[in-house]
Amino acid sequence: MDFEKEFSKMKEGNTFKYFYKGKWCESNTGKTITLRNPYNNEIVGNIQSCNKEEADEIISCAKENVACWSDTPINERAEVLRKAADIMTEYSKDLGEILMKEIGKPLNSAISEILRTADIFNMTAESGTLMGGETIMGDAFEGFTREKISLTYRVPLGVVLCIGPFNYPFNLTGSKIAPALIAGNSIVMKPPTQGAITPLHFGVILEKAGVPSGVFNIITGRGSEIGDYLVSHPLIDMVSFTGSSETGKNLAKVAGMKPLLLELGGKDAAIVLDDADMEITTKAIVSGAFSFSGQRCTAVKRVIPMPNIADELVKRVTNEVTNLSIGDPAESKTIGPLINSKQCDYVQGLINDALDKGALLKYGNKREGNIIWPTVLDNVTTDMRVAWEEPFGPVLPFIRVESVDKAIEISNASEYGLQGMIFTADIDLAFNIAQELEVGTIQINGKSARGPDHFPFLGTKSSGLGTQGIKYSIEAMSRPKVVVMNLTEKGKLIRECRVD
Ligand code: NAP
Ligand code: G3H
Repeated sequence: MDFEKEFSKMKEGNTFKYFYKGKWCESNTGKTITLRNPYNNEIVGNIQSCNKEEADEIISCAKENVACWSDTPINERAEVLRKAADIMTEYSKDLGEILMKEIGKPLNSAISEILRTADIFNMTAESGTLMGGETIMGDAFEGFTREKISLTYRVPLGVVLCIGPFNYPFNLTGSKIAPALIAGNSIVMKPPTQGAITPLHFGVILEKAGVPSGVFNIITGRGSEIGDYLVSHPLIDMVSFTGSSETGKNLAKVAGMKPLLLELGGKDAAIVLDDADMEITTKAIVSGAFSFSGQRCTAVKRVIPMPNIADELVKRVTNEVTNLSIGDPAESKTIGPLINSKQCDYVQGLINDALDKGALLKYGNKREGNIIWPTVLDNVTTDMRVAWEEPFGPVLPFIRVESVDKAIEISNASEYGLQGMIFTADIDLAFNIAQELEVGTIQINGKSARGPDHFPFLGTKSSGLGTQGIKYSIEAMSRPKVVVMNLTEKGKLIRECRVD
């Protein structure tokens, strides 16, 4: 099928519309936002800058259409998700190309992001249909009998607001949309501004797959202008958000008593012990720190090596980093542009601060346009900003320590608590260290990562609230409904214990 023709109704020329009541609309504000390719500054497209009145209309529409969708049998909702997955797969190359242009993601990773989202839709269809309820007898408490029985099943929350970040704009909106839909909710999606165009395609994909008009809706516009209004809106029943800790904390303040799922920033540390396999460790650290130029919440953002292997590890990592490809995302180079020049300035500021305070530059510290060369810093100390702040760029600090205890202390001193890594051959010790780390997930002998997507994914401290992952997200987007049967004791069988 011809991609342009199939998706033509979303836009007029190069200007994309927003989507509600099954229609593609232009904002009454008359205002649009121009999005440019972070690699070559070419215009990728324009999106609508919606206002609060339009937000009211979109949210009301979603609210009116909760019941028609939640009444649809779950096997039919699952079939819709599977069809949506087929459409994403069919157009993965076209969608991947748009994604590559709007956020500068290497083309191969951009296409993988679309296919991964299709996998999530398929797996969510499976997982959702298999989820059952619970029956509990009352007699666990003294004074109650088995004639009191609770029957628990899950019901949708209502309207779920799905807000995603720029770095996985399709996948991290899709991983909210699929569980929200299978649980029977209607949706208002607000994509990130830089990265809005690819997720806008969900409007056509889900309509073609069979989601009724008004159940899935999209609003575009800057989070700084409409974000608080959306989050605090009385008709929004739940917010699922991925983005920075700063935005997430503000969101939690304005959301009131709404249930929240927040996936926020990280500062994942790799603790490397003396007996670690150097080859496996080096590969994991380099790929973990530098894929998509470090613009991943789960990127390796600190390495804390033990003294006996620190020199060798720094040498190996630096060698490997010199071989990373740098340049055009269309050619799937590993290191490409950061999302904008402001972010490059921020990352450069972290590098400068570390070098001013005595860090040793092993490689990098070069900038061309929005590309920052992969940068390895040794002898980083805890008075340097890069020891604590999340660069969201290709910078890897080595913080040398004398002992495992010190490594744990530095790891836990972070405001973040997304994931941690331990590289060692001593699995017993790894488990003991894992018990001490204040993070959501600990990877033993592997890089930090969200997937596979049916694993629980969560952060502690400033890294988040609630648990993502297919089954967990469906649970977060639904609630138990409890019906209690109070039977009479009439007809109860009385059987006595035999002692003969
Ligand atoms: P961001 O600036 O916080 O933006 C995230 C989303 O929030 C965007 O859609 C943004 O819209 C919207 N937003 C802005 N202000 C808002 C408000 N007041 N209320 C509601 N929404 C608002 O984050 P980002 O720069 O896109 O993403 C990078 C950050 O996300 C990093 O810190 C990274 O670690 C984190 N992240 C975490 C995970 C995880 O799973 N833990 C995954 C990916 C990324 P606009 O684009 O219009 O401003
Ligand atoms: O950027 C945050 C994402 O949740 C990370 O996902 O580990 O699959 O790259 P990933």
